Amino acid sequence: MDSTDVQADLKHVLYTKEQIQQRITELAAQIDKDYEGRELLIVGVLKGAVMVMADLARALHSHVSMDWMAVSSYGSGTQSSGVVRILKDLDTDLMGKDVLIVEDIIDSGLTLSWLKTNLESRGTSSVEICTAFRKPDAAKVELDVKYVGYDLPNEFVVGYGLDYAEKYRNLEFVGTLAPHVYE
Ligand code: PRP
Repeated sequence: MDSTDVQADLKHVLYTKEQIQQRITELAAQIDKDYEGRELLIVGVLKGAVMVMADLARALHSHVSMDWMAVSSYGSGTQSSGVVRILKDLDTDLMGKDVLIVEDIIDSGLTLSWLKTNLESRGTSSVEICTAFRKPDAAKVELDVKYVGYDLPNEFVVGYGLDYAEKYRNLEFVGTLAPHVYE
């Protein structure tokens, strides 16, 4: 979907399809360089990371393996609690692997902080994080994120994997929702 399809629901477009694709290409070039000569496993966290996994993987010039996890954060509403439950685990044995976790967004950082520690405990050689978006003003924990697409304001953002009540994930851009949608 493009912005004309959801015009009435939008406040602002923050990053266009072109800007996102350009940044993903830059991140892929950096990842190709950083992991040259190594075998990389990229791990997408369902469901939001589907778009960035698909675009990032295709922008890479190196072979990568791909696997998926689904996690759920205990707690009320949209707030992450930091206590995470694995709904779908990896199929891959991580012993000795270089792993790159791929996310759509880092908000409080609690989910990724937990996930990074969890994967590291499985005997990995390295675990790094790549996220399409990050909300620096929402951070509750210090988290070392090696690859960041764009920083976002601490507002309700949708698109490119990010949902509101499971809608808007399939927007090709990222934008803020008009208040009438969620009030
Ligand atoms: C989002 C995102 C991260 C998490 C980040 O997932 O994909 O996994 O929230 O939040 P945090 O930094 O505050 O922990 P969500 O739980 O919305 O699931 P989804 O990917 O299925 O939309």
